[in-house]
Amino acid sequence: MKINGETKLIGFFGSTFKTSKMYAMYNAVFENLGLNYVYVPLVVNDIKKGVKAIKALGIHAVGVTIPFKISMIEYLDELDEDARRIGAVNVVVNKNGKLIGSNTDGHGGVRALKEKTEVKEKKVILLGAGGAARALAFAIKDEGGRLTILNRTVSDAEELAKSVGCRFDGLEKLAVIVEDTDILINGTSVGMAPEIDQSLVDKIFLQKKLTVMDIVSNPRETKLLKEAKEAGCQTVFADRMLLWQGVLKFKLYTGVEPAVKVMEKALQITSH
Ligand code: ATR
Repeated sequence: MKINGETKLIGFFGSTFKTSKMYAMYNAVFENLGLNYVYVPLVVNDIKKGVKAIKALGIHAVGVTIPFKISMIEYLDELDEDARRIGAVNVVVNKNGKLIGSNTDGHGGVRALKEKTEVKEKKVILLGAGGAARALAFAIKDEGGRLTILNRTVSDAEELAKSVGCRFDGLEKLAVIVEDTDILINGTSVGMAPEIDQSLVDKIFLQKKLTVMDIVSNPRETKLLKEAKEAGCQTVFADRMLLWQGVLKFKLYTGVEPAVKVMEKALQITSH
């Protein structure tokens, strides 16, 4: 990597600096494509000043994660349709001094699903109605999936379902509708370390024809995905969603289609 007077800076606003593989992923592709960008962590203590600094320092773009995805919105100039509907951003691009927020989480998730199954016209159950589920719900609907949102707090499922335009219910409905479902997604935090022995889905409901996806990335193979594999289901790991939301971000950062294989290698992930 050669830094010179033309190098464009892309920063990362978040709280997972030390463990993130995103630095390796983006910088590997910049190098591979000969693009004069560098991707670095930026420690933000005050989000309002942090957003001002994007303009003041001429930072080309920033990736955004927890805890700033929602809180930085009020300081941006514009939101694209996904960011507006979801109510959160995971990328901000500085277009000639105008800060435009976008969100690639949902469509990244759908791209990950589509590596294993069509989504259009498929019956999809999405468990959860929090931030992650929200992003996925709109993207699944955009793709033509026939979506039902199930959540422990039914009023949250209802609110999200009304904005998306789909069905909703409580988690207990899973037992009734899962038989007639093609795709099952855990969009909740259940199963995340240290509670790795938990799953919202009893394994008796995991029939072979299902494609099962989990947004929990730690552990990579959650209890749900392990049991789904054992039942002969297709499985979609959360790191594929991470990869694809990054691919979509890369296009927003640079306007260039990234080399997905190089990103995959830098992330050290596979689709199995
Ligand atoms: P995120 O932004 O990561 O999606 P969140 O907004 O806190 O996190 O949402 C967490 C989701 O996991 C919610 O859908 C939550 O259900 P509630 O709306 O009922 O709180 C769900 N969730 C978390 N722990 C759960 C549990 N033990 N059982 C069922 N659902 C759970």
